[in-house]
Amino acid sequence: MAFIATVSLADGTPMPRFGMGTWYLGESAHAHDRELAALRAGLDAGVRLIDTAEMYGSGAAERLVGEAIRGYNREELFLVSKVYPHNAGRPEIFESVEASLERLGTDYLDMYLLHWRGAVPLSETVECMEELVEDGVIRHWGVSNFDADDLEELYGVFCGDHCAVNQDLYHLGSRGVEYEILPWMRSAGMPLMAYCPLAQAGDLRRGLVSDPAVVEVAHRHGASPLQILLAFVLRDPMVVAIPRSGDAAHVLENIAACDIELSGDDLSLLSSSFPAPAHPVPLDIV
Ligand SMILES: NC(=O)c1ccc[n+]([C@@H]2O[C@H](COP(=O)([O-])OP(=O)(O)OC[C@H]3O[C@@H](n4cnc5c(N)ncnc54)[C@H](OP(=O)(O)O)[C@@H]3O)[C@@H](O)[C@H]2O)c1
Repeated sequence: MAFIATVSLADGTPMPRFGMGTWYLGESAHAHDRELAALRAGLDAGVRLIDTAEMYGSGAAERLVGEAIRGYNREELFLVSKVYPHNAGRPEIFESVEASLERLGTDYLDMYLLHWRGAVPLSETVECMEELVEDGVIRHWGVSNFDADDLEELYGVFCGDHCAVNQDLYHLGSRGVEYEILPWMRSAGMPLMAYCPLAQAGDLRRGLVSDPAVVEVAHRHGASPLQILLAFVLRDPMVVAIPRSGDAAHVLENIAACDIELSGDDLSLLSSSFPAPAHPVPLDIV
């Protein structure tokens, strides 16, 4: 069983620092058994956090997660789902969360995120999220694709500072969040959920996985370049990584990356190819 560290949310709740993403999972009948086995392999190996959304496959990913978690102790799991921006107000959000719960086969979410900012005022979304917490439908709420200005604005809204996490794109080849967002979140005690931590197997940044620095550090650790990408985001104790895989062997390889500790030398080498930002960078999204 892998050891997966946790990070404390502002209220002290432990949140696993490694989870399984689910974008594109559950969409193909042909891949169903393989993807279900991948999620189950992760659960059997000790992964407890799963990240999903009503958007993914229009509910198909949530349905697959519901199938995967059947038989596991719900209280030990940490389920994260997301509401579409156009559903993040009343009354839609209450219908959205109920539909997510139904597909997941559970009666509460550990974390409910606003997927990205839309036209619904933040104050209305926060009010609804707070009601959902009060009613026990969700345990925490957070946001996604927020930059530092968005977080600042959120904190200006009544109860906006109850936001538990922000989920943004973060991988070695896209380090913009390190300039302003991560420091802001660190000072607020708010963990960052890093999405696309594998840069979608390198597709989001040409040359990332084959970069000589990445290959050299991988060689030093007897690891794969993708494992080094995971170890890179996980080096920060305020960061949670949620790589997605529909392949059981890949899931196990990703979990094993939790044990890789990058040295100062490793980080300098990686930074020589992919430097930390020296000035503000627009928020990267997919
Ligand atoms: N909040 C947001 O707006 C937002 C946006 C994007 C993503 N997300 C969340 O973050 C999660 C992760 O992001 P992502 O799915 O876009 O990309 P990712 O996790 O960076 O990369 C996924 C890709 O990597 C491959 N892969 C995974 N492990 C591998 C391994 N060990 N060896 C080789 N290939 C491997 C997968 O293929 P295989 O299936 O073949 O392994 C898949 O093609 C999503 O699933 C979703 O839950 C959130």
